[in-house]
Formats: sequence, C-alpha cells, structure tokens
Amino acid sequence: MRIKGAHPAFSEGEIASITGEIAEVLRSGRLILGSRTERFEAAFAEYVGTRHAIAVNSATTALQITLQYLDVRDREVVLPTNTFLATANAVLYAGGRPVFGDIEPQSLALCPDSLIRNITPRTKGVILVHLAGFISPHLEDIQQICRDRRLFLIEDASHAHGALYKGSKAGSLSFAGCFSFYPTKVMTAALGGMITTNDAALDRYARSLRHHGQTDRTLDVLTRFGNDWLLDEVRSVIGYHQLRGLENAVLRRNALARRYTERLKDVKGIQVFEVAPHIRHAYYKFPVSVDPPISRDHLMRRLNEEHDVETGVLYDPPCHLQPIVMETFGTKPGDCPVSESILRRELCLPMHVSLTEEDVDRVVGILSAEIDLRMDMAVA
Ligand SMILES: Cc1ncc(COP(=O)(O)O)c(C=O)c1O
Repeated sequence: MRIKGAHPAFSEGEIASITGEIAEVLRSGRLILGSRTERFEAAFAEYVGTRHAIAVNSATTALQITLQYLDVRDREVVLPTNTFLATANAVLYAGGRPVFGDIEPQSLALCPDSLIRNITPRTKGVILVHLAGFISPHLEDIQQICRDRRLFLIEDASHAHGALYKGSKAGSLSFAGCFSFYPTKVMTAALGGMITTNDAALDRYARSLRHHGQTDRTLDVLTRFGNDWLLDEVRSVIGYHQLRGLENAVLRRNALARRYTERLKDVKGIQVFEVAPHIRHAYYKFPVSVDPPISRDHLMRRLNEEHDVETGVLYDPPCHLQPIVMETFGTKPGDCPVSESILRRELCLPMHVSLTEEDVDRVVGILSAEIDLRMDMAVA
C-alpha cells in the first residue's frame, strides 16, 4: 500500500454534516456572503484568539490584501527564502519588492541576523513564515527588531493552523496572520484562505477588497480597486467542519511526530529538528535532515520508486534560486548560503492524520535499511 506524503482527512460523520449543509446552501440560493461564511470566520477568530477573521479565496490573496493595506508599493519586504514562492508573489502583486533572508539551521526559519542585514531605508516590513507548522524560536527577537525599526510584522501561517508559541496561536503573534486551506494543509476548505487580525481597519479593508471594492455591502458605489476573492458558502461549510476537528488533528500529528522522533533515534544519518517546550508544532510536515554522505535525492527516489512512500522537500530550490526570481531580481547562488547548504539535505517524511503507527514504523524501517545499504556500498 502506497504511503502518501499528505492527505486531506474527513471522517464519515464530517462528510455527512458537510454534505447535509451543502444541500441546504444550494437550496437556499445564498452562495456567497451568507451565514456559513460568517460562522466560519467567527469560529476561526475565536480559535486563533484575534478579534477579526476574514475569509478569502486563498492564502496568496490573504497576504496580498494585507500587504496592500500596509502599502508596500515601491518598498521592500523581507521574507525567508525558505518558503513557497506564493509568499513572495503576494509582495509583488501588492506592488512591493520581496527581499529574501537566509535561514537559521536549527529551525529552518528566518535568521534574525540575516533579517537585520537585509534591512535598508526602503524596508517596510517583514513576513515571518511558520515553516512546516513550526513557529520560530526567535519570534520575540524578530518582533523586537521590527518594533525597534518601525517595520510591520505579519505571519504567513499557511502551514501552521493550531501551532502555539507560549500558549498563543499562530496568526495572533503579529499584526495579521494569513492562512491557507489548500487540500494538503493541516485543515482544508478544498481551497481558501483567512486573514486574522485585531485591526478593525484591516478587517473593513479586506471585506471591501475581497468583493470588488464594495462599500457598505453594496456594489453600486466602489471606492477601491478590488477583486472577486470571496470564500463561497460551500467552501465555508467545509472549512468550518475541518476547523472543528483541527485540535484533534494537531494532537494526532504531534503523536505521529513523537513516534517518528522516538524510532529515528537509532537511525544513523537522520537528524530530527528539535522543538522547544514553549512551542507546539502543527506538523504540517515532518522534516528531517539527511547527513552526508547519504544523498537526500537518492533516498527520496528509493522511497518513492522502490517502496511506494511519498516524501517531499521544503523548499529546494529556495525562492532566491527559483528561475523566475533569478531572472527578475538578479538573485544568485551564494546569496543565502545557509539555506543552500541545509535545504538540499532536508527531507519531509509522510505526515497526515490518516497515517498509522505502523506506517511510521514502516517508513523508519525502510529509511534505516536504505541508509545501511548505502553505507555498506560506500565502505565497499
Ligand atoms: C508558505 C505558503 N504560503 C502561501 C501559500 C499559498 O497558499 P494558497 O494556495 O492558499 O494561496 C502556500 C501554499 O502552499 C504556502 O505553502
């Protein structure tokens, strides 16, 4: 049986509730901006611990709207190179210039020193990405750096639904959090996104922009250039029910991660990333580091082709080495040396709530056998 790298999970009870409510939505004729979206937003804000939550059609949109509100036009925004390019794209779409900071090897998150080195008179703010569901242990340093220099700080929490830092949820640790409900994520709405914030003016702005720049709930008089960026009622139903199961999903992911960590202790050549006790990982992914001389790419190929185990990488190549970025901004190898050396060794093992303890043991057993085989060949 193939072990998938990621897989959205819906219990039979959840499917029955979702399909029943979708039927009601369809019968009602109210397909957008109705009670299901309002209910999802209220529940999401309560879960994250912010005053507002605004549902939109994707995390990219959530980031773009927030960055437009913060007015990054012709200004620089620093973000880690170790993220999905959508984070940088949102800066571009909002009229700003993404600047790629290097990472810190223990957490794979934005390195505070690299952040400082990348700040210029043109810098307007910083996007912190909770990579793989992990909140940077340097969060408070980064918050301080931003406060001292009057830069905004926002979170790309696309991987981090339910992650905690000293008891506070991802999405409540900065001016605004931006979440994704893409199918592979910790929770899904099929597709979709959410902005979380305590700022009432951003709330009003986002509600206007996501619906063609509407004012006072009408499309007759438009005061802003907006777009059709709504999360419809059908997807709001899916998102709401996934949110109800989120806490259990995060606990399950943490239990699987503990099992991986325990079992991997005896596997030479694989390092697990440590998590400080004041941080709860959401374990969107379970990244490990593969020590030389074992090749990460070789291991991935063997796992996939010989053993039917899907794995992934976060993110290789990193943003500054993506062809379109190099072509557009002139970034090049050597710009972010830590990312370049660490990320080519990083491997994400399967992680989703339908994974069983036996699956974890099988993956670890295969890894261990493959590494032994490689080491024997290297010695021979
Ligand atoms: C870190 C990160 N930011 C942003 C996005 C974009 O999310 P969406 O597809 O909801 O726009 C993703 C998507 O995978 C992501 O991984």
